[in-house]
Amino acid sequence: MELPAPVSLKQPLYVPNKTLMGPGPSNGSQRVLDSLSNPILGHMHPESFEIMDDIKAGVQHLFQTKNTATMCISGSGHAGMETAFVNLVEDGDVVLLGCTGLWGHRAAEMIKRLNGDIRYVEARFGRSLTMKEIEFAFEGHKPQIFFVAQGDSSTGILQQHLKEIGELCERYNCLFVVDTVTSLGGTEFLMDAWKVDMAYTGSHKVLGAPPGITPVSFSERAIARIRSRKTLVKSYYLDALLVGQYWNCFDLPRIYHHTISSTLLYGLREALAQVCAAGRKNVITRHQECSHRLQCGVQDIKLEMFVPNANDRLPTVNTIKVPTGVDWRKVSEYAMTKYNLEISGGLGPTAEQVFRIGLMGENATFERVDLVLNILHEAIQSTKLQEKSKI
Ligand code: GLV
Repeated sequence: MELPAPVSLKQPLYVPNKTLMGPGPSNGSQRVLDSLSNPILGHMHPESFEIMDDIKAGVQHLFQTKNTATMCISGSGHAGMETAFVNLVEDGDVVLLGCTGLWGHRAAEMIKRLNGDIRYVEARFGRSLTMKEIEFAFEGHKPQIFFVAQGDSSTGILQQHLKEIGELCERYNCLFVVDTVTSLGGTEFLMDAWKVDMAYTGSHKVLGAPPGITPVSFSERAIARIRSRKTLVKSYYLDALLVGQYWNCFDLPRIYHHTISSTLLYGLREALAQVCAAGRKNVITRHQECSHRLQCGVQDIKLEMFVPNANDRLPTVNTIKVPTGVDWRKVSEYAMTKYNLEISGGLGPTAEQVFRIGLMGENATFERVDLVLNILHEAIQSTKLQEKSKI
């Protein structure tokens, strides 16, 4: 018997207009949204290749790298993380994970599947890792790969000392992998100068493109390590040498690897073009100023930042302690129901403890900072009143 078509698909598509001020995705600009309605192109058409070349140049600029092995993975930020490890880790390789929140542990979930030998260096709760802690862990573990998130979106921590860590990695002949998913464009990142071997970022955070396409870059040292693997990369889809050939990274003819979404290419190209037009450094400064304004406003409404040391605070995802007796879910629901505004709760180690406010891309403006502060304050007062009226 023929199954009937679903009734729900008879309804027109409805998408509400929300202000996305959680940890991402952030709102896309009109220019990015408009680009998404262009006609679909084939994944091997010369026009698609041209757009891919533009994207590659934009990503190299934002990462501040000359790496020819700069490309995009068709997948979200998680695919960027998996690309790092599936290409660089072989059975028994010692991988040291710097943890300032959830992301080091998420990396472990991936490395387990690759039979890597996982070691940890954990920061004190709410703090970034110190060089002393990292150096001590290097002495003890002699890692072949070191990973850290520059910005950990679960805690709102900015990992400092990346330049020093890069030098340490070089001394230990250790590959340096940095997650810049929520940090790139909101704080300085200098891939080549800091000797980073593999970096990936999110399209849907500061850049304000849709999720589903993830910029990644490999140093020559990292590519040499992949070429000298004893075993095949355990994922065809994420194999950097194959994806890189599709992205014209290796002076070899482009190959068909997979069917990239031309629509996502348009969105990312336009997002990168906007950041380049505004100026990379200006964009970083704007994000830092917005975060500073938010932090001052948080004090004014008698709330407290979760990260005690101001230098350890990530400008793009700001974590604020949930006041005692307040249910963060009610606050978040209030903001969404009344204002279509997303304010998130904690994740992983900060679950139930913080609000997470994203100031990224289109949402990194003083107007949006003031809006989110006003609504957060109103929502907390309202939930407190509701609780009182129950007594
Ligand atoms: C995703 O990046 C999150 O922090 O929720």
